[in-house]
Amino acid sequence: MPIFRLKIQIHFETAIFFSLFLELGEVWHGLMQAAGASRKVFEFIDRPPRLENTGTYAPDSMTGKIEFRHVAFSYPIRPDLPIMEDLTFTVEPGEVVALVGPSGGGKSSCIAMLEHFYEPTSGEVLIFLNIFWMDVF
Ligand SMILES: Nc1ncnc2c1ncn2[C@@H]1O[C@H](COP(=O)(O)OP(=O)(O)O)[C@@H](O)[C@H]1O
Ligand SMILES: [Mg+2]
Repeated sequence: MPIFRLKIQIHFETAIFFSLFLELGEVWHGLMQAAGASRKVFEFIDRPPRLENTGTYAPDSMTGKIEFRHVAFSYPIRPDLPIMEDLTFTVEPGEVVALVGPSGGGKSSCIAMLEHFYEPTSGEVLIFLNIFWMDVF
């Protein structure tokens, strides 16, 4: 084999070797990133919830009157940004209510509190269950 062909062959093999090495490094880097991210996910899963949903009451039927009483709310992640202040309204059973307002006005946040995803900072969110008012939070 002429010398220059041998040289090319050696360079080619060295290049393959190093590119494999680099790829291995990238795979390892990706693996480490995934391991780091999963640790964070498990931390979130193991976090004890601040709201305990341990109630067992399951009414057969529900009148379903809804009341927001002087509700103030801001998201825990942005406590300095008030989403609603002193919001009071009643929804009678069977009544259709439209929450109207600009995007970012707090309509979905009202529903999120009704679904008990968040607690109001102050005030009460209540659902009337035939015989008694239930604190949603
Ligand atoms: N999960 C959240 N964490 C922090 N801020 C939020 C969250 N969801 C909504 N917001 C903020 O709360 C405000 C009200 O949002 P939202 O209730 O979704 O309004 P709407 O439904 O009326 O468009 C907005 O400023 C929005 O950026
Ligand atoms: Mg919305």
